Amino acid sequence: RRPLRIALLGCGTVGSQVVRLLREQARDLEARVGAPLELAGVAVRRIDRRRDVEIDPALLTTDAMGLVTRDDVDIVVEVIGGIEPARTLILAAMERGKSIVTANKALLAEDGATIHGAARRHGVDLYFEASVGGAIPLLRPLRESLAGDHVHRVLGIVNGTTNYILDKMDSTGASFTDALEEAQALGYAEADPTADVEGFDAAAKAAILAGIAFHTRVTAADVHREGITEITAADVASAAAMGYVIKLLAICARSEDGRSVGVRVHPAMIPRSHPLAGVREAYNAVFVEAESAGRLMFYGAGAGGPQTASAVLGDIVAVARNRLAGTRGPDESTYADLPVHPIGET
Ligand code: HSE
Repeated sequence: RRPLRIALLGCGTVGSQVVRLLREQARDLEARVGAPLELAGVAVRRIDRRRDVEIDPALLTTDAMGLVTRDDVDIVVEVIGGIEPARTLILAAMERGKSIVTANKALLAEDGATIHGAARRHGVDLYFEASVGGAIPLLRPLRESLAGDHVHRVLGIVNGTTNYILDKMDSTGASFTDALEEAQALGYAEADPTADVEGFDAAAKAAILAGIAFHTRVTAADVHREGITEITAADVASAAAMGYVIKLLAICARSEDGRSVGVRVHPAMIPRSHPLAGVREAYNAVFVEAESAGRLMFYGAGAGGPQTASAVLGDIVAVARNRLAGTRGPDESTYADLPVHPIGET
């Protein structure tokens, strides 16, 4: 069978692990998909940068647009993040019939309607498991396994960096700055860590989760957001003295009458006996409450190169299988438009 060819956009913490896994697991992936998966090229900003993985120089290019529009490319994997040029590249690739795998929470939260709409118009796959919760299978369960249920609430810890910082402040008395530096060194933080500590990253993820869970359009701007920069060592210590731990929570809830939703991200005091209090380091945990399923908990590594790359690889296998079968995954473009309250009353 002819190989399915992959264009990779970005080769940082996650991208380099995607390259490694595609190479190391080539045989298994071929068996699972039913055709070999081949790297067609890797678009980077700078060719000469040192990377975590060795890449055939012939595959590297700075011409991302040239790469995604090539006829021999079947699947485009976008791990550059940010709104532009990611949006333009994804739209150009869709126009040419490529399947899309992306980890881009900022783009989906800001302009998901354009991206989902284009996927539908061009009849292409759009998978984005890696955009929320790192390694945790969360979006696929919400989009597929729970598609027949009625979700009331999605709540949890969706940013690894802030959880790492709050956990280190709580367990070792580390300062905010030292803990943030550690999280950056471990590859958890965004390129600009303001996105993590000010809650923008969690707000983007909350918007994506709410949109999928409640089948409606939610953007990052709809999310009430507070970060953790105001939290001091003294706050953490006094919470601890009262038997609490401070966590940055994302809360997405449908209103009682089901006609509107509220989405918010803010620090909260959690009793030590609560399962969320036991979420350490860069782990994430998300509770989903649904009418028939009841309460479900999703837990695992929420950030990190190999962990996030695992979710990307899962999506690559899914879109590759769909391509060979001539089918498409779930379509998120046909949302209702429920009003979103900036501050949810939950
Ligand atoms: N900066 C993000 C986090 C990476 O810390 O959770 C994973 O999306």
